[in-house]
Amino acid sequence: MVTIQETGAGRIGLAQLEPSDREPLRRLFYRLSAETLYRRFMSPIARLEQVPTDRLLDVDHRDREAIVSVDDREIVGVARYFRQPGSDAAEMAVVVADAWQGQGLATRMLAALAERASAVGIQRFTLIMQADNSPILRLLRRVDPSAKLALSQGVYETTVPVVAWMINLRVQPSACCSPGGCSVRSGTLQARVVIGANA
Ligand SMILES: CC(C)(COP(=O)(O)OP(=O)(O)OC[C@H]1O[C@@H](n2cnc3c(N)ncnc32)[C@H](O)[C@@H]1OP(=O)(O)O)[C@@H](O)C(=O)NCCC(=O)NCCS
Repeated sequence: MVTIQETGAGRIGLAQLEPSDREPLRRLFYRLSAETLYRRFMSPIARLEQVPTDRLLDVDHRDREAIVSVDDREIVGVARYFRQPGSDAAEMAVVVADAWQGQGLATRMLAALAERASAVGIQRFTLIMQADNSPILRLLRRVDPSAKLALSQGVYETTVPVVAWMINLRVQPSACCSPGGCSVRSGTLQARVVIGANA
């Protein structure tokens, strides 16, 4: 079980992103520093119109899923996957707003995302990151200390079994991520928060 530090993160819940979450998702991007945006999208974002919001909202909870961290009514982090068409592999990405980093949110979101992915037959997550991105590399090493990294033009790519994300981030079964899917998929973002502070 991941225990979130009492300072700040204890009240934060997780929910599945829905297409209706456009405004809170847009507000998240306004909270990100230039470096965090650059790390997430791997290119400089000069204007937030460059963020592909429509694509990021295109979730179907099977081939395209996103788990968000919710603090009060605001999204403060997102972990997502896109299944590679017709395969059991998916590309995964994660971002946490600067002020919420280092409190275990990426760990919790990725554990929940892996649980969802496993329930719909995804067996491998591919992750692409800049070679000098220490925070995500440390997180990756917790998941799979022996993960092989392929380097190309300053960018690492690696593929790690979904089960490693589930086991090594110590996921607990949760209502949101049971094999049958999330039991609460409608209503406001706040109403959909179904994974509690200590999930
Ligand atoms: C990479 C990123 C998502 C990590 O998010 P995060 O929420 O800070 O990650 P976590 O808090 O889960 O883990 C970070 C640290 O907190 C620690 N931690 C984990 N659970 C914790 C808890 N419950 N309480 C306190 N600390 C905890 C971890 O051990 C880790 O420490 P380490 O860096 O010394 O190994 C964040 O830095 C980010 O948004 N970066 C920009 C986007 C990016 O690079 N994305 C990756 C490419 S797509």
